[in-house]
Amino acid sequence: MAKESITLIDNRTGKSYEIAISYGIYPLDGAAIRASDLRQVKVSEDDFGLMSYDPAFMNTASCQSTITFIDGDKGILRYRGYPIEELAEKSTYLETAYLVLYGELPTKAQLEKWTHDITWHTMIHENIKKFMDGFHYDAHPMGMLVSTVAALSTFYLDAKHIFDAGSRKTQTHRLVGKMPTLAAFAYRHSLGRPYAYPDNDLSYTGNFLNMLFKMTEVKYKPNAILEKALDVLFILHADHEQNCGTNAMRCVGSSQADPYCAVAAAAAALYGPLHGGANEAVLRMLGEIGSKGKVPEFVKKVKAGEGKLMGFGHRVYKNYDPRAKIIKRVADEVFEVTGRNPLLDIAIELERIALEDEYFIKRKLYPNVDFYSGIIYQAMGFPVEMFPVLFAIPRTSGWIAQWEELLLDAEQKISRPRQVYLGQDTRSYVGIEQRETGKTGQTSPKGVA
Ligand code: ACO
Repeated sequence: MAKESITLIDNRTGKSYEIAISYGIYPLDGAAIRASDLRQVKVSEDDFGLMSYDPAFMNTASCQSTITFIDGDKGILRYRGYPIEELAEKSTYLETAYLVLYGELPTKAQLEKWTHDITWHTMIHENIKKFMDGFHYDAHPMGMLVSTVAALSTFYLDAKHIFDAGSRKTQTHRLVGKMPTLAAFAYRHSLGRPYAYPDNDLSYTGNFLNMLFKMTEVKYKPNAILEKALDVLFILHADHEQNCGTNAMRCVGSSQADPYCAVAAAAAALYGPLHGGANEAVLRMLGEIGSKGKVPEFVKKVKAGEGKLMGFGHRVYKNYDPRAKIIKRVADEVFEVTGRNPLLDIAIELERIALEDEYFIKRKLYPNVDFYSGIIYQAMGFPVEMFPVLFAIPRTSGWIAQWEELLLDAEQKISRPRQVYLGQDTRSYVGIEQRETGKTGQTSPKGVA
């Protein structure tokens, strides 16, 4: 029978090494060797040993996880084994968040208790409101969200007891409950509107819409179709295994920082235009293109290396992003209520042309979750600055699930990659009088004249 190992021959020494292979639940997708097993490969006793060099973690598994499964070639996404398509059709965001966090769909009683616990924690301390007031009128809501969620760490000192299961549970309720409130307050602040307090009679997304859009009416009534559409979008964004934001959550969490600081770091990572900021960039791009007729010209520029087609491409999905398919369906339902977003025609034309083009086919570039989500959000009345915020709210449950998994994993330690050093070898200090480039043996740092 074949052995579950590889044999490595070091051609520098002629020595051979047997290294064990471990598997995930699908052997062909999850086979891995332990990078630390490479350390035995040495040319001499005092050699540090072989490392693997992997910028941007292109081929490095940083953890074992039971939360989310993705098969990028087949376009599969599952939370705790449940296909995203079924959850989007049958579940609710809060139920899915429970599943992501605790591994099983809740019973009726568990769901009632969970919903109650989250609802109980939707209010924020009045001092956070004052903190929010300190931001400039045109501050980006994502910057406000990142800062205020970090500030929660100063309100809940019990959060630092990260190895206390009870404390983790309370912080989970607080974070999932308060993120929509922080997000909505950031939005109202940017418009100079009074903050609208949570209405705990409403659903998670219904209450969020209430805090965003309530004006003078005594009771805000969310549109049921928009409330459901937002809920589906939240389900699609709940987790996505080891992406940039989640990696930030795990990295900061590994130093045993409290979960508010770790969520702030994860949200900061999500803010960038190559990650959760992409849907904002998509809208700006569609606006710049301006009309369907200008799409071929734009695609030509992208192929010439002048910018990227935002909302296209993914590190993992190389076939299609299953979330993008569901979002397209949600878009139709939303436009029935809001009227059609004129940018949709440009987006559809862009997708059509790109999917027929050799450049995009060869590089396996398909629309990702962000390509259509922004168009829906805009039709629902959200300004583009709110788009990454709308991503961060539902992703909070995934971040916390990944953080908790990290804390309970005996193999995990503080996150600390190695490097391959390419700088100067040891040299003696040069007095300032002698520091003239070229005369002292000093060389300019790379890129500095
Ligand atoms: N438009 C045009 N060309 C692209 C695009 C794009 N959107 N994405 C990748 N490419 C090209 C690259 O230029 C590269 O071409 P080359 O081989 O000729 O150099 C090739 O495709 C491979 O791309 P990489 O950058 O190596 O792919 P990587 O896995 O590192 O990047 C990423 C993935 C960051 C998502 C990238 O596709 C991208 O920047 N897309 C646009 C931004 C975006 O939509 N991000 C949202 C991702 S989903 C999310 O975070 C929720």
